[in-house]
Amino acid sequence: MVRSPFRFSNKRYHVSSHLLSELPFSRRDPRIRFVNHHVAHALSAYYVSGFSMANVISLDASGGQDSGLLGYGDGDDFHILHRISTDSSWGQMYGKFTEILGFKPHSDEGKVMGLAAYGTPDSDLFKFINWDEEIPTIRRDIFKHQVASFPRRQPDSELTEYHKNLAATLQYNFEQAILRMSKYLFKKTGCTSLCMGGGCALNCSANGKVLVEPHVKDIYVQPCAHDASTALGAALKVYRDEFGHRPDFQMDHAYWGPSFSDEEILAALKKAKVVKFHKANDLAKETAQLVADNKLVGWFQGRLEIGPRALGGRSILCNAKNPEMKDIVNKKVKNREPWRPFAPPFLEEDFAPYVEHPYPSPFMIIAFRANNEKIPDIMSATHVDKSVRVQTVHKHTNRPYWEMIKAFQDITGVPAILNTSFNVAGQPIVCTPFDAIGTFFATGLDYLAIGNYIVEK
Ligand SMILES: [Fe+2]
Repeated sequence: MVRSPFRFSNKRYHVSSHLLSELPFSRRDPRIRFVNHHVAHALSAYYVSGFSMANVISLDASGGQDSGLLGYGDGDDFHILHRISTDSSWGQMYGKFTEILGFKPHSDEGKVMGLAAYGTPDSDLFKFINWDEEIPTIRRDIFKHQVASFPRRQPDSELTEYHKNLAATLQYNFEQAILRMSKYLFKKTGCTSLCMGGGCALNCSANGKVLVEPHVKDIYVQPCAHDASTALGAALKVYRDEFGHRPDFQMDHAYWGPSFSDEEILAALKKAKVVKFHKANDLAKETAQLVADNKLVGWFQGRLEIGPRALGGRSILCNAKNPEMKDIVNKKVKNREPWRPFAPPFLEEDFAPYVEHPYPSPFMIIAFRANNEKIPDIMSATHVDKSVRVQTVHKHTNRPYWEMIKAFQDITGVPAILNTSFNVAGQPIVCTPFDAIGTFFATGLDYLAIGNYIVEK
């Protein structure tokens, strides 16, 4: 992990001398403003949530001198109610057990979250958490001592019941802590809207548990909740300080990356000497038919999405109704652990009957509980615990994607497909037409819908 060169200490910020020597300005330059790490996380959610008032939780491993803060936004203002010290870091706790379970900390926490669904939590195992406090804390001394006693799993070795139960215990305790934090904020403010930022906000299982609580009626999770969003949060803070009010902006989609015209795509196809492709008369219909026919389709449309989830800018699509599709995607393209879940994008208009407590989820960052009678429609996108990490696809924010799923619904009656990020294991998501064409030919994808072109092998 790269340590931030900005350190918050006694209300003063210090910049490492190494970085200062590289920058074309001095620390005292009046153009430079310093924004606390967790304030940036918090504002990256609250100021773009569209809420006029909301409780806010920011949580990560560490940033500034804290690992989190609890506060609330009221109009243009943001108030801090509680800081969570790095000694009691829920993000570090999660990272440590990710490592113990044989995965990469600060990277593979999502895998552990997926694994947790296979186990049974032991509510008494984590003796290092002090639940007697209003906001529970991690007792550092006991944590260090107890962590050393857990046997470490070698990467790629077998995952036993013990490992599954340990993952479940970790997830359970993490969720309970977040629930307590949200209750604390509700008690303080009476507000039923909640915003979440910081890397821990990417835990969609925990977010789903919070959303079904009676004290949370509305939720907004920053789609790029990890440290990348601190740049946005810092800019929003300076904007508010400079102009006296928050920007009039609601972040209702994540499509902020580059896009490519059909001319650029055609030029890339020709340069790559691709011969088997045609321009679609109706891209949505043609793609939907391929997906309905159980083909694996690379989907490259519009602007690249930001954040860790593929949201229909650079996605791999297939038929979620087919129970074998998950294994087919893993075998032909993704080569990832077979127990990890895939996620379904849904037409937002038609997703409510599929889950308990439906709520708009444009960023695939909330896990819902699927309704039993609807699971056969989304077999390959439903996790072992019947949770489903829905993306609601909205016509006004991604029309090509919405139209394709609508066309799929016209063919099959199901308003959802299965989506995974357009990349192979260990590689970043594709960005340019060249990236997409390269990954298409290097994997078992059957078709590529790129701009208005459909490419085959
Ligand atoms: Fe952070």
